[in-house]
Amino acid sequence: MIRSVVRGFGAALPKQVVTNRDLEARVDTTDEWIVQRTGIRQRYIAGEGETTASLGEAAARAALDRAGLTPADIDVIILATSTPDNTFPASAVNIQARLGMHHGAAFDMQAVCSGFVYAMATADAYIRGGLARRVLVIGAETFSRIIDWNDRTTCVLFGDGAGALVLEAGEGDGTTADRGILTAHLRSDGAHREKLYVDGGPSTTGTVGHLRMEGREVFKHAVGMITDVIEQAFDATGTTADDIDWLVPHQANRRIIDGSAKKLGIPPEKVVITVDLHGNTSAASIPLALNEAASDGRIKQGDLVLLEAMGGGFTWGSVLLRW
Ligand SMILES: CC(C)(COP(=O)(O)OP(=O)(O)OC[C@H]1O[C@@H](n2cnc3c(N)ncnc32)[C@H](O)[C@@H]1OP(=O)(O)O)[C@@H](O)C(=O)NCCC(=O)NCCS
Repeated sequence: MIRSVVRGFGAALPKQVVTNRDLEARVDTTDEWIVQRTGIRQRYIAGEGETTASLGEAAARAALDRAGLTPADIDVIILATSTPDNTFPASAVNIQARLGMHHGAAFDMQAVCSGFVYAMATADAYIRGGLARRVLVIGAETFSRIIDWNDRTTCVLFGDGAGALVLEAGEGDGTTADRGILTAHLRSDGAHREKLYVDGGPSTTGTVGHLRMEGREVFKHAVGMITDVIEQAFDATGTTADDIDWLVPHQANRRIIDGSAKKLGIPPEKVVITVDLHGNTSAASIPLALNEAASDGRIKQGDLVLLEAMGGGFTWGSVLLRW
């Protein structure tokens, strides 16, 4: 059977680092509060000329280089983002143009912090359905541009960045020993849409708006939703927490990550953490974390890697893959 195999990975971060101490000068907060409540120590913030598309392009080029491929080899670009350069066209076509690609198709996918998991599941369906042989899956965000920098309850949490994977069709036996995506599970429940949202948009206010969040409400639902969708991945494949080499979670909050891993029985040494370095980069956080752990040699070919995310909507999902 056809499997969607990771062929390359890459990432890009803005030049400017903003530490918790830097934020102390901006809002009524402390490094201690932020570290204790979230695990975040710093984040990268896009400067002039740095946008979702420019960061996405840089991550895509890094992933293509690592795969030994060029844009000519790619059939489809899927960009997971909630912070596009423009309301339309999709920032994916901006990246397509920046890569000098005139063939294939490119589109954005909007599932907020679950965007990368949604994009991976979609790319997998394209590849297994024979619609594409190679898909560039990108998560890129500039949440700093939709943050209310006077709201201390949200502005300390988010950062900017981009990460990308090249997925390629490969042959598998249909067992969990195959390389590639083994299973993907997506969920959403719009009843929760006002717990984490942006208070503007083209069809309502005609403005871009700012991120608003009931942090405690999000926290309350997160661990249950995440563990539920991971149990689905285990059930679908007959795997258990003991089989997992690496859990690469969406990096929103250290306490949510630790709570989910503990509930599932995945030991801390198997969990990739980058929230301290990047903050919450929404759809970019998983590919940024994959890039860190695969670049430094932690994630190796053949490892069983579990991705999970939960975010605005609410949306949530999991992807189980063999690297
Ligand atoms: C946002 C979050 C860190 C807040 O932590 P919390 O323990 O729930 O804190 P609360 O919201 O109860 O606030 C506790 C106090 O800290 C204060 N506070 C909020 N932000 C603060 C900040 N940046 N610095 C200092 N104090 C802050 C609050 O005003 C409140 O003060 P009060 O008790 O005097 O009213 C936590 O709710 C969380 O992580 N939620 C999930 C958010 C998330 O991950 N979202 C993205 C999902 S993709």
